[in-house]
Amino acid sequence: MSRPAPLPQLPVPTRVVSDPRRAALALADELEALLSRRPEAVLGLATGHTPLLLYRELAERVRTGRVSLARATSFNLDEYVGLAADHPGSFRAFMARALFGEVDLPPERRHFLCGEARDARAECARYEASLSAAGGVDWQVLGIGRNAHIAFNEPGSPSDSRTRRVELCEETRAANRPDFPPDEEVPGEALTMGLGTILEARRLRVMAFGASKAAAVRAALLGPRRDEVPASHLRAHPDVELWLDVDAAMALSPNA
Ligand code: GLP
Repeated sequence: MSRPAPLPQLPVPTRVVSDPRRAALALADELEALLSRRPEAVLGLATGHTPLLLYRELAERVRTGRVSLARATSFNLDEYVGLAADHPGSFRAFMARALFGEVDLPPERRHFLCGEARDARAECARYEASLSAAGGVDWQVLGIGRNAHIAFNEPGSPSDSRTRRVELCEETRAANRPDFPPDEEVPGEALTMGLGTILEARRLRVMAFGASKAAAVRAALLGPRRDEVPASHLRAHPDVELWLDVDAAMALSPNA
């Protein structure tokens, strides 16, 4: 599938598509090529609505035999503190529904932070050690939060931050409320790979869709690089690509 030309004069290669499905297809093509070259590739995976079309396309390609994840390894970015792994709102449960139930990635090579760990510091150190032992992430997919957070690195997260326990902003908890039963609180804390950890991935592929992300995208690309805009730190990466739909890109045009 042809890839649209990147928008000019932006700090990172940024492509705008009329339909998010085109971004999902393009990134699935790239993943297919990577996995055919390196079947044992290490993939960094995100949750949220943004990557769902990509995961659906990947599952279809595994089902039809075009792609295999049988020798791949995955690391998810983050997990809520205090949720059991089988809680429907947990990111582990999200990934089981969105991808892992449909593909041949062996369970023992699906890595998650354990949100129930008694010692969060030790759990985060374990995760960093697992990432190093796996040789780091070859290909990381990312979404962007409405407040320009990356994973659960909220505004104020330093660009060299590591995997750690964080407090979630009220805005983030509200955005994730639909994933929880009405009578349950969205957790106030999470374990997340840090920005410094994420920036060590060899390739970053960022997607953002919808008007609710337009301000975050503009701040990430056109504002100063600063901790208050975690997504702005992605500009420091040597191989990052941004895929937007028209609504998420609407604040980028000069007269926006
Ligand atoms: C959550 C996740 C992020 C994700 C963000 C955006 O906070 N921790 O990894 O990028 O939400 O989610 P969505 O794709 O649903 O807009």
